[in-house]
Amino acid sequence: MTISLVPRPSSLVEGTGSFALDARTRVVAPEALDGEAALLQAALRPSTGLPLKDADLADRAIVLGLAADLRASEYRLEVTVDGVVVQGGDAAGVFHGIQTLLQLLPAESYRRARVEGVAWTLPAVTIVDAPKFGWRGAMLDVARHFMPKHDVLRFIDLMAMHKLSVLHWHLTEDQGWRIEIDKYPRLTEVASWRKNSQVGAGPDATFDNRPHGGFYTKADIREVVAYASARHIQVVPEIDVPGHSQAAIAAYPELGLDPSKQLDVYPAWGIIHDVLNMEQSTVDFYKDVFDEILDLFPSPIIGVGGDECPRDAWKADARTQEIMRERGFTDEAELQTWFIGELDAHITAKGRRIYGWDEILEGEISESAIVASWRGMTGAVTAAKRGHDVVACPDDQVYLDYRQSTDPDEPIPVSIPLTVADVYAFEPVPAQLTADEAAHVLGGQGNIWTEHMDSPRTVDYLVFPRLCALAEAVWTEGDRDFAEFEPRLEAHLARLDAIGVEYRKASGPLPWQMRPGVPGRPSTREERAAFIAELVANIAE
Ligand code: ACM
Repeated sequence: MTISLVPRPSSLVEGTGSFALDARTRVVAPEALDGEAALLQAALRPSTGLPLKDADLADRAIVLGLAADLRASEYRLEVTVDGVVVQGGDAAGVFHGIQTLLQLLPAESYRRARVEGVAWTLPAVTIVDAPKFGWRGAMLDVARHFMPKHDVLRFIDLMAMHKLSVLHWHLTEDQGWRIEIDKYPRLTEVASWRKNSQVGAGPDATFDNRPHGGFYTKADIREVVAYASARHIQVVPEIDVPGHSQAAIAAYPELGLDPSKQLDVYPAWGIIHDVLNMEQSTVDFYKDVFDEILDLFPSPIIGVGGDECPRDAWKADARTQEIMRERGFTDEAELQTWFIGELDAHITAKGRRIYGWDEILEGEISESAIVASWRGMTGAVTAAKRGHDVVACPDDQVYLDYRQSTDPDEPIPVSIPLTVADVYAFEPVPAQLTADEAAHVLGGQGNIWTEHMDSPRTVDYLVFPRLCALAEAVWTEGDRDFAEFEPRLEAHLARLDAIGVEYRKASGPLPWQMRPGVPGRPSTREERAAFIAELVANIAE
């Protein structure tokens, strides 16, 4: 039996023989690991049809436990002909060990209905394993396209399967506001719906003439946070300000530069010029919003966005210029610094840390602020050298919305091609950092922007299997060799098949993975080749 685990563990020693699960197999766990035991049972009962009952003490059992010689998140998994022992330095470690245990079983174990005729055996093995980075993340944009709660929970399961630890949840955008805020009901009544969505990219993009929207109630949010927490995944919410805020302005025009202007929740994609005004009342509005966010999310880290806020509207606006004079600002950049600084002070005073895109480095931020380096790795270097913690998510390496090949049939040719091998090569720590500076790199994350992912199916296509490669880049210590990864990934895809993940096959998209007639996806190979040549030339400029 070949063992193919993703992500690859630090150490694996194969033993002799195997352990077969059968109707007598029990799960033994101390009370502190009840949750982990229940998740193991829930994972295996449907496909195996085995009862896997609880027991206090049992022979030939799966025994879960904590072990003082292991670190937090570390686990040891021992399978012998006599039974299975999964030990962790903490519950997270045990949970990671369980994920490995599930991968040692046949891929059919991931099915949700009983599979007959499969031998549910685990190969004898000893694995000791721990993560390279604490922050093993995925950023999910549910604002451009809403992802129903059910699919968010499924996505969390897929993250857990790949031993990821942070869901950076991008909840607000120009195109939609996705979270209930009691004090400002129009954020969901108005800002969670748009009339229309852009389809395709480039000058020939069209609109679908179909409303799109949705939001999570507070009960939904609490459920998602608890579900993730049970799977040892931290949910870091992001409310993006002061750019990317047109949906909020549509709901509350007093947040905008011209309160007499009724804006729409934005239906197209891009960087929008209608940004928040810089009145004290606008900061106060967002302090209220963040108070409700802090109440909902136990995460010590709270996202404030800060990316892509154009300043031309501030320059042209008489009232904003007056505000600048009042505050003694000479450059519009100081407005953004002021705005983020106010929220930083508010959130930091409440014992949390702000988390923002690398634009937040342009101003003064709390020492505790965490920077997401997305415009390449420059932000990671600057932030770490200034003593800030960093999450590496460079667009040219881990933007999982970027197209997956130069294939003329690749759906929606966003930016440069990023193959599975490109993502696999991701290294979150910039080489030019000293050891002390490098210690500020908490890890990395893949970013899933959903302008062109109008359903969870499309998310599957863009995200998998690249997220599998990313998971190994942030989990596995030591050298990585794509040639060694490829056959393991091939075996791993059988698990994704069993779950029903509509990942991209190496041969390219399947017909149903392409939305027909989408502008930006030229209809002939020649047109597409010309389009891509132009894109590449633009990027090179
Ligand atoms: C970003 O991609 N605008 C963070």
